[in-house]
Amino acid sequence: MENHQPNNERAQWGSRLGFILAAAGSAVGLGNLWKFPYITYENGGGAFVLVYLAAIVLVGAPIMLGEILLGRRTQLGPVGAFRFLGRDRPGGRAWVGVGILGVVTGFVILSYYSVVAGWTLRYIVLALSGKLAPLADDPAALQTFFGTFLSNPWQQTFFHLSFMAATVGVVYFGVGHGIERAAKVLMPILFVILLALLFYVVWTPGFPRAVAFIFRPNFSELTRGGVLEALGHSFFTLSLGMGAMLTYGSYMKKRTSIPKAALTVCVLDTVIAVMACIIMFSIIFSFDIQTTKSSTILFTTLPVVFFKLPGGAVISALFYVLVAFAALTSTISLLEVVASYAIDELGWARRKATLIMGGSIALFGILNALSLGSVDSLSKINLIGRPSTAGVFGTLDYLASNWFLPVGGFLIALFVGWLLTKNETLQELEMGHGRMKTFGVWRFLIRFAAPLAVGAIIVSVILGAEYQ
Ligand code: PFF
Repeated sequence: MENHQPNNERAQWGSRLGFILAAAGSAVGLGNLWKFPYITYENGGGAFVLVYLAAIVLVGAPIMLGEILLGRRTQLGPVGAFRFLGRDRPGGRAWVGVGILGVVTGFVILSYYSVVAGWTLRYIVLALSGKLAPLADDPAALQTFFGTFLSNPWQQTFFHLSFMAATVGVVYFGVGHGIERAAKVLMPILFVILLALLFYVVWTPGFPRAVAFIFRPNFSELTRGGVLEALGHSFFTLSLGMGAMLTYGSYMKKRTSIPKAALTVCVLDTVIAVMACIIMFSIIFSFDIQTTKSSTILFTTLPVVFFKLPGGAVISALFYVLVAFAALTSTISLLEVVASYAIDELGWARRKATLIMGGSIALFGILNALSLGSVDSLSKINLIGRPSTAGVFGTLDYLASNWFLPVGGFLIALFVGWLLTKNETLQELEMGHGRMKTFGVWRFLIRFAAPLAVGAIIVSVILGAEYQ
């Protein structure tokens, strides 16, 4: 079924809050709770955080508005939206390529994201069964446990498939009954757990040092690579560049304000990322723990510290439930991009689309699950040739975060900023909002700041500047 017309029977969010929670659910995920704290740590804190905040305001937020407006205007997913709006403009049908890139990116990211998300399930089981406590007592034993876990093919596959099953289980029920309902339950719980943990760490001895580390900028620590990493991360963390926000925007009612909703999502995502940093650094700085590999802080360092504090068993279980919930609302949005492509463009029924697309991603993702040490050939393959790009997992993460998302975001910014007319964008952004006083600022940012900044990421990747 070729879907050229904006379609009137499209599913819609039940309420404005439904959209906000679902979109914030997509944005808040492993990027906030796992990646942001460790890249902040690696980049020396305060100055990096400032650059990240600037990237969110100057680049992320304007593109977020742009993506949502494309979706809501056309009531179509990325492929349909670009086909419909690209028709009579320079580039014509070639713009469909941006939509297809988005669907492929969703497929790729989900295939490895759910492997990491699966680890949180293992840790929930571990915490609840009381087996985490003895491991946490001995950091070396925990390190070994984690290493053995990564290279166990059955466990990696099992937890990855379990997470994919949960994701399919939600998307199967559609926009209102599946995604919105899940977000309405999971997001408030997530927020309450975060607040409880934050309240808890305020009393730990490491809290003042954590706050100083995050908020006191020390520009001598900041490198060019750090600036690019902050920019790149602002994309990943806000789910931009692959049409996830565009797809969610396509289910938005015309009477909802896009600028307000987008702003709320950006603020929630940023606040949660900063809260996660405060929680993790307070705990880490409370003890003199040496973190060797920062990317595994969440699984090898935190448990050690949790159990040095009163109530460690409860805190650790709560923490991994929090990470699992955050990851689930993100994997849902990744699958929705791929599934809605099959629904809109191939004319499949939602259930068939969800099962077949979710099933294919789950199967493909087994390659990632097995590339962390279980199968030598999958773990050692290194097409890019850098240490961080080893294995199928490393390669796909590198391609998606450094190429697909920035290139997608760059083209989205160009399309919205330069090919849509000023009136088209103004009309869509003001619909459901009233007069938008900051329209001029937004238009300037999406025409100039966003493409220039994202162009810089792409050029630096071409030149080989390591920033991941
Ligand atoms: N924003 C998610 C995170 O920070 O974990 C990751 C993500 C989800 C990226 C959905 C892209 C996307 F479409």
